[in-house]
Amino acid sequence: MGCTIIGCGKQLPALDVPNEELTKLVDTTDEWISTRTGILSRRVCVTEGNVDMAEGAARQALGWADGGYSQCKVAPEDIDLVIYSTISPDEMVPTCAAVLRRRLGLVNAAAFDMNAACTGFIYGLTIAETMMAASAPGAPGAAGRNPIRRALVVGGERLTRVVDWADRNTCVLFGDGAGAAVVEWDERKPGILSWFIKNDDDHTNALTCPACFDAPQPFTPEGVDPNALQQADPSIALIDAELDTTERIAAGAPRQVLSMHGQKVFKFATSAMPAAIEEVLRRANLTIDDVQFIVPHQANLRIIKYAAKRMGLPLERFQVSIAHRGNSSSACIPMTLCDAYENGSIHPGDKVVLVGFGGGFTSGAVLYEA
Ligand code: COA
Repeated sequence: MGCTIIGCGKQLPALDVPNEELTKLVDTTDEWISTRTGILSRRVCVTEGNVDMAEGAARQALGWADGGYSQCKVAPEDIDLVIYSTISPDEMVPTCAAVLRRRLGLVNAAAFDMNAACTGFIYGLTIAETMMAASAPGAPGAAGRNPIRRALVVGGERLTRVVDWADRNTCVLFGDGAGAAVVEWDERKPGILSWFIKNDDDHTNALTCPACFDAPQPFTPEGVDPNALQQADPSIALIDAELDTTERIAAGAPRQVLSMHGQKVFKFATSAMPAAIEEVLRRANLTIDDVQFIVPHQANLRIIKYAAKRMGLPLERFQVSIAHRGNSSSACIPMTLCDAYENGSIHPGDKVVLVGFGGGFTSGAVLYEA
């Protein structure tokens, strides 16, 4: 109670790539992609970086730029914390959060990146809420902590740089973008009512994206070997698509690209999403009838439809944005939340659920009163 969303914004890269264009790269059709996923096109970064998009989104959320939704203009020095969720940072160090903090002049903010795959924005909100509650005046131990009154929570992804553009199973699904929300601690407001985060084991590595730490190594099991550096082969091996992900990587599959077994992830998603919604409602002593609107992660329109059916809700109660964006991992939920405010779907007093799932397997939901 008390952690309120007071602004949100989004920014997409300029290039729009319709399905038809991808038929130049892989054996696919517009018909297959649109009917199996609901995706018609996606935005792709060519010149934009991850933080470039996040900066645009944050400026809207802070009330500094047109677009998005903002209850008030927040001064730069009033942001105490920046939490930046991403699986595709521009660099590991400085973090995207640190670069964004500098660009926006958030002189008082502590800033860090985090990664909970596509559920990252949900996890980010829970961290912000917890730190605000723990440092609120009167909270036990608050005097020993940074006071966090306002936080900027970002989901930003330049995902298309980790996509294997020769793999039709994955390349048609993803896109780039960034969304941001400003949250404020105000004990007079209900704000976030409950949240739930969970990890299930991804036993078969159904969804992987190895870290970008692949500098050639001058080591063998025996120790230092300068020849090993020369022998390192940076070329991408041909891989048998039938192999399990871990086996593919062991066999020399491209290490720095996203790899996915779609059906396994689909199965996880269709159970994890309704389960997370049910759990946040249970924790707040509410039922689905009390909820006006749901903002889900956008991985496949069929997953959202399945969740709607299972919850006995019409699709109109879900904000859907996948058609012209695809899946932009942790950026999906904040961007889609911004859509919902912009098109007037969320009204003051509404109870809203944000719900996501992703690699790992992570899942989670946040229930708040607007
Ligand atoms: N174009 C044409 N055919 C394609 C294709 C493409 N882009 N991608 C896969 N296919 C083919 C497959 O090779 C397969 O052919 P086969 O029957 O000859 O073997 C056929 O389409 C069916 O593949 P399948 O994987 O069963 O399709 P699907 O209905 O499960 O849809 C996904 C695939 C990826 C769209 C779907 O499984 C999905 O959305 N999974 C969840 C993904 C997700 O949520 N990821 C992000 C998590 S955050």
